[in-house]
Amino acid sequence: MCGIVGYVGDRSALPILIEGMERLEYRGYDSAGVAVVNGDMTVARKAGRLSELEAELEGRDLPGLLGIGHTRWATHGAPTDENAHPHRDCSGKIALVHNGIIENHDVLKARLVGEGHTFMSETDTEVAAHLIESILQERSCSLLEAVLEAVNVLEGAFALVCINSDDPDRIIVARQEPPIIVGAADGVGLVASDIPALLAHTRDVIPLDNRQVAEVSRGSVRVFDFAGEEVTVEPVHVEWNMEAAEKGGYEDFMLKEIFEQPDVVRDTLRGRVDREGRVKLDEVHWDDETLRRISKVVVVACGTSFHSGMAAKHSIEHYTRIPVELDLASEFRYRDPVLDETCLVIGIAQSGETADTLAAIRFAKEMGAKVVAITNVVGSSITRDADAVLFTHAGPEIGVAATKTFLAQLVALNLFALYLAQQRQSMDPAKTAETLTALQALPEQVEEVLRSQGEVHRAAKRYADASDVIFIGRGVGTAVALEGALKLKEISYIHAEGYPAGELKHGAIALLEPGVPVVAVLTGAKLYDKMLANIEEVRARGADTILVAPQGDERARALANELFEVPVTKPLLSPILDTVPLQLFAYFIAKERGLSPDKPRNLAKSVTVE
Ligand code: F6R
Repeated sequence: MCGIVGYVGDRSALPILIEGMERLEYRGYDSAGVAVVNGDMTVARKAGRLSELEAELEGRDLPGLLGIGHTRWATHGAPTDENAHPHRDCSGKIALVHNGIIENHDVLKARLVGEGHTFMSETDTEVAAHLIESILQERSCSLLEAVLEAVNVLEGAFALVCINSDDPDRIIVARQEPPIIVGAADGVGLVASDIPALLAHTRDVIPLDNRQVAEVSRGSVRVFDFAGEEVTVEPVHVEWNMEAAEKGGYEDFMLKEIFEQPDVVRDTLRGRVDREGRVKLDEVHWDDETLRRISKVVVVACGTSFHSGMAAKHSIEHYTRIPVELDLASEFRYRDPVLDETCLVIGIAQSGETADTLAAIRFAKEMGAKVVAITNVVGSSITRDADAVLFTHAGPEIGVAATKTFLAQLVALNLFALYLAQQRQSMDPAKTAETLTALQALPEQVEEVLRSQGEVHRAAKRYADASDVIFIGRGVGTAVALEGALKLKEISYIHAEGYPAGELKHGAIALLEPGVPVVAVLTGAKLYDKMLANIEEVRARGADTILVAPQGDERARALANELFEVPVTKPLLSPILDTVPLQLFAYFIAKERGLSPDKPRNLAKSVTVE
């Protein structure tokens, strides 16, 4: 989850590193550091946000054409100056940055201390610097060879980026699990843990494969497997441009990303519906017979992606009549699930790097299941582990709280469910065409929801001081309620809980008292009256009601303290509209409370540890 950058070229490395780190700060931000080579190795590190490091560096001259930088999200060792990366060996000539966890660091540290190495931090990372130093001393080999040997000794997950002041022409990069991307352009060598940090320099990037090592020098990249065999790699061309990764005039990335959602829905649908009203998914290469043999679908995901999976369960079961199980990826493989080759596992991860989701789909593959991934990131780990990949075309999502990727996932999952139904002939083609027409109307309907941001802002002002907010829904509305609660708690730090509305009276209703806001999602025609009954129960306890309801619904208006109206669509597609005012609600409340919605405390954009 940490952010990594590396540069070797003909310009001063430091400003390039800092700029890249700014673009990656969303990956982790409890401390930051840089190492620059100019004859000697100079390192600067600082606890806190990147701005603290920048203040520390002000007025200091740190020339050098080779350097690495890191923004940290702590796993081992508190976020202090000493634990901030880069870490060095005893000689101070080797510096490295790391994302992941080195699981055998204790054993290695004991061995290295026995050999006389002195450790300066509490991190697991530092062991790698001393290990490489020890190999270099023993073998008098190159840094590349030393890293190739070290990666076979280190256990756990690591994206490691290493430099040596005795060799100012190259950066050595190693990957075991967490993503790392390398690139070369016009006399420049580049490294980053994510694409936005590279876009200023190149659009042709090489995401390293698992268990690969790269030697990055000016204008060239060589890639090796862990056995030291050189492998041929092709760069991936990234369509995103710099503006896409910038805020584009919005105060925060989160707001920008919420407002990008009409385009995101459009882009995710683009090219996937043909003129005859059929779904066209070229990425899914299984033949119809294989699709007909699917006996069970299992959806695995975490956080917001889990909520899109929760809504998708309804669509898949309704359209295809295939039973769907839904699992939190972190629980899935520990419950001894029943899987075979007739099972289809859908792994959802906007980042494509969530460690639990990757582990879950790998486990599913070992059990013989087929795996399809839904992700937003080209070249991410999940794309390599899955049998088929359906990309959500949401563009880079910088805000830590997932918004546009959630909507894109809902669209992709509904398309996939319709595709399964179409190929298995489990749905009347006229109904498929009708649902696709409803999907295609969504971008404009999302625009309409966004136009009513004023009402949401007013409600946010009214409830910004709440200490608890309860969210309820039924059917697919439950997924919206859970997502609304997650958005609110993660960026506003208000305690928020989402419940299926029918469950309220089995416990959570005890929390209700006058003034407590209850957000109710009124979707799904057949559940409408039941939701109204639940809303009456809430009102009877004196709680306030904030209702997400179909436009022009007078019954809802009569029961609402605040009303967020949304256009009408098919019930199974309604989360794509109903979620939007709740994203805005969370955003405006966070702003009212003076918080930074893009960088909520303790959270990271891609969760690459279990
Ligand atoms: C919430 C949020 C997280 C992620 C979760 C899974 O706003 O962003 O809950 O949804 O960490 O991330 P991915 O989708 O990358 O697997």
